[in-house]
Amino acid sequence: MKRIWLRRKWSVEVSTAQEKKVRKREFILSGIRGLDELLHGKGFPKGSITYLLGGPGTGKTTLSLQYLCEGAKMGDNGVFISLDEGLDSILENADEVGIDLENLVNSKMISLVDASPIVSVEGEISAQRYRRSAESSLAILMDRIAYSARPPAKRLVIDSLATIVLQFPEPSERRMALKGMIETIRELKITTLLLSELSNTGKDRDYNYEEFLADGTIVMRANSAGNTLQTFTVEKMRGVENDKRPHPYKIVKGSGVEVFPNELAEF
Ligand SMILES: Nc1ncnc2c1ncn2[C@@H]1O[C@H](COP(=O)(O)OP(=O)(O)OP(=O)(O)O)[C@@H](O)[C@H]1O
Ligand SMILES: [Mg+2]
Repeated sequence: MKRIWLRRKWSVEVSTAQEKKVRKREFILSGIRGLDELLHGKGFPKGSITYLLGGPGTGKTTLSLQYLCEGAKMGDNGVFISLDEGLDSILENADEVGIDLENLVNSKMISLVDASPIVSVEGEISAQRYRRSAESSLAILMDRIAYSARPPAKRLVIDSLATIVLQFPEPSERRMALKGMIETIRELKITTLLLSELSNTGKDRDYNYEEFLADGTIVMRANSAGNTLQTFTVEKMRGVENDKRPHPYKIVKGSGVEVFPNELAEF
């Protein structure tokens, strides 16, 4: 703010070009039992990108479908981009766990998009062609995502990044591809869950490059002791004073993933 004096006695305040209005951050509830408590009772910052990591069968797809279904019940349109599982299988699995996905798809609150043919590379081809094919398929995929996630969509899930990562075996190209992808999603200003595989589930796990670009990281781990409770950790969430401790969770028939914020887990 700059003060301008008028005839030595009176002054007015005018905004300078550098001044920016600080906008209050808005949040959306995840709708997952226990998760919003770990996010200070607020949920995800609107327009944020969260990386949801876990080993096979830990419940990533289930949680992401709950996120869309609970959002739809609150009036948010959602989009699910499937890169490695058929839509019939997704609907059947949701039904098995007791998530009412089909009705929300029929009422057009949720769009299921089968993008698996875009990223699948068939047959044996040379490295040169493979690379070109991976780049062009990623460009087509991003166009498809941008089209599907246009307003009024408010929630987006991409299941999973692992399929894209596999297409770029060269680390520098993989980084460029993921960076471009995350930048494109950020421009959409849609609250996003990016699912991916976690091979080393130990405490000292390797960090993926894209985690540094995302706003949040949630890790779901199977319990090595073999009992039914698994471990759920919100490792990072920019803009939220989140609980970073590991908590137990389980998949409950009738509701899906349920996290226990008042209990602590060991892994
Ligand atoms: N009705 C049910 N009640 C409890 N658990 C269930 C039920 N149906 C499936 N599950 C469990 O849900 C898990 C699968 O969940 P989901 O497909 O969401 O996992 P995922 O992490 O996405 O797996 P993937 O890595 O294969 O994509 C399985 O481990 C299965 O044991
Ligand atoms: Mg899955």
